[in-house]
Amino acid sequence: MAEPDLILAVDQGTSSSKALLVDHRGAIVSRGSGALGQQTPRPGWVEQSAADIWASIQTAVAGALAGQDPSRIRAVGLSTQRESLLLWDRATGEPVGPLVSWQDQRTAGACRALLATGADDMVRRVSGLPIDPMFSAAKAQWLLDTHDPDRRRSTRGELCLGTVDSWLLFRLGAGHVIEVGNAARTQLMNVRSRTWDPQLLELFGVPAECLPVIAASTGPFTTAGALAGVPAHVPVAAVMGDSHAALFAHGAWAAGQVKATYGTGSSVMGVTDRTTDLAGGLCLTVAWQDGDTPTFAVEGNIRASGATLGWLARAVDSTPARLAALAETADGGGVHLVPAFNGLGAPWWDNEAVGTISGLTLGTGLPQLARAALESIALQVEDVVHAVDDTVAPVPELLADGGASANPFLMQLQADISGRTVRRALDADLSPLGAAHLAGRAVGLWDTTALAALPRAHQDFVPRSTAEERERGRSAWRAALARSRGQSV
Ligand code: G3P
Repeated sequence: MAEPDLILAVDQGTSSSKALLVDHRGAIVSRGSGALGQQTPRPGWVEQSAADIWASIQTAVAGALAGQDPSRIRAVGLSTQRESLLLWDRATGEPVGPLVSWQDQRTAGACRALLATGADDMVRRVSGLPIDPMFSAAKAQWLLDTHDPDRRRSTRGELCLGTVDSWLLFRLGAGHVIEVGNAARTQLMNVRSRTWDPQLLELFGVPAECLPVIAASTGPFTTAGALAGVPAHVPVAAVMGDSHAALFAHGAWAAGQVKATYGTGSSVMGVTDRTTDLAGGLCLTVAWQDGDTPTFAVEGNIRASGATLGWLARAVDSTPARLAALAETADGGGVHLVPAFNGLGAPWWDNEAVGTISGLTLGTGLPQLARAALESIALQVEDVVHAVDDTVAPVPELLADGGASANPFLMQLQADISGRTVRRALDADLSPLGAAHLAGRAVGLWDTTALAALPRAHQDFVPRSTAEERERGRSAWRAALARSRGQSV
């Protein structure tokens, strides 16, 4: 019988799960997906059901396996949404409460109170991340305060805390483990030593006994027999955070190679050799760890990118696609929209910033507003790329992926605003592809040279702006940001 030659990649994301079968040439043979909803029981609260997550994965895998020969599957790679957190009962495996999403803001007050104590310096130094409701640590505190206020059950190890990868691995039979890149985004791990940090655990009131064991990104973790249709012996060979996996799929394995994922928000990320304290509002994280060797990355998360167009569409009873088309009919520059709906993320990390629209005239119409919304995406991405360029390594070109990268007008705007060539991946599903690549390398389907040589279809957008135009644009954006942040212009 021929050697199994396919990798099954499963990407568990915020709005869906996706599955791909990838062959030895790196080509996608088949795809499946399962939709996933979320619940918003109160303003700012965002939850998901662990049972729905599992069901969406099974649907996605069934779709990818339809008409395919499962005996060709050599290994499984998993990429997951990050930071979202769940508590479950170790003995029964039953979730205790909902999954608290990375988007959830219920801990905003608790984070503000922690910031007021001056804890941020220590937290940043140790975890690589600023105190913010997005990260898992404050969610862990909330889940434990709600379901185990005296910490008796968690201290006895009866309750398990875990991110989505951790939960899926538990369901697949791996025990209570977490992949190191995902662990790096919890804000409970010392990013350099890659161990749970006692100071952080104390600060957020999390007993070590309810935390998973931190594992490298390459396994084998367990087998994938619990995925319907997958032969029982197939190993889960790689697990990655979704953003990290997208970076890996770009082949961006060296400092100075930076990608932006354009989704609801945006993640700008690039590998770094520098793990000393970072300036420029960037986070330090573990990108992936193959065996014993960690690869570090810097990342900046922008809270609202696609969400900005979504908001404007709702406000004017239109659709994001219609607005994107309208934006192309307007000249840029005059109107600025700062989408600080929940404050601003990287590189400013300013929770007090407010959403603003400035530069309105009687001539301003919907096309100008739509253009300002699109420009805000590209300007925010450039703010982070600029910080990486400044603090890590020169960034000659920007790699792009994610849903909104399909818009060529936005990609050209990005190139013009940044003054860098934007290289857009033609396949939108880079996260599962990255997990497939790492899993395939882990089981010997490719070595590093073969992996680097896999075809990566892309389209380049070359800047058409002058340095002077870019400087003028950036200084007008800085003035708009200052207004949003209540600073004098
Ligand atoms: O940090 C959150 C991110 O991992 C979620 O990604 O693609 O599920 O929106 P996505």
